[in-house]
Amino acid sequence: MTDSFEKMIMDTPFLNLVRQRRSIRHFDPKPVEKEKTVTCIEAARLAPSAENVQPWRFVVMDDPARIAAFSDTVFSGIYRFTRWASRAPVLIAIFAEKDWLANRLGKEIQGTSYYLIDIGIAGEHLVLQAEELGLGTCWIGWFHARKARKFLAAPKGWRAVALIAMGYPRGKRNKTKEKRKKKMLEEILYFNGYK
Ligand SMILES: Cc1cc2nc3c(=O)[nH]c(=O)nc-3n(C[C@H](O)[C@H](O)[C@H](O)COP(=O)(O)O)c2cc1C
Repeated sequence: MTDSFEKMIMDTPFLNLVRQRRSIRHFDPKPVEKEKTVTCIEAARLAPSAENVQPWRFVVMDDPARIAAFSDTVFSGIYRFTRWASRAPVLIAIFAEKDWLANRLGKEIQGTSYYLIDIGIAGEHLVLQAEELGLGTCWIGWFHARKARKFLAAPKGWRAVALIAMGYPRGKRNKTKEKRKKKMLEEILYFNGYK
């Protein structure tokens, strides 16, 4: 990052929270307090959405036996690389119940699947609230979505869009000085048009 942008970045509690967050794939077996999980979902509930459709639906698994059986089902075959998530104390399945007007029409006219944007925003609200509560999370897109819907007995119109693994991080948080590969502001930010 060049000096010019770096100097302009303000120091805010929110930015520090965002800086602190990273994907966590190793968890302490300690269960997550239900209040914390519900608080995270509340943060997701308040997210903005196209036409205020609020397409998100959350199915929370916090029973280890249930998570194990779910994992056997959705992280098999080509999805086996996500098996680490079977050891997460909490696994949240985020479904989308699509709205005809906001999604079908939006997709047809603008080519944009708004419900996926909506789910992304809500999910990240959840993740950042978890971070503030000392919990680690990891988004999961690599799972068998159709089997997830069946396993959780979700209605036919629901689509399993993502999972979020959640729990207390194993070991000391952020003890490594690992550099995360994030693009520089110069690579992604353009004022007043691309030049
Ligand atoms: C929509 C989405 C899907 C993801 N799917 C997976 C996944 O299936 N498995 C996995 O290990 N990580 C997954 N991740 C986590 C990313 O690998 C991770 O966010 C990225 O490497 C950046 O690292 P950071 O989260 O620590 O900043 C996913 C992240 C997002 C946002």
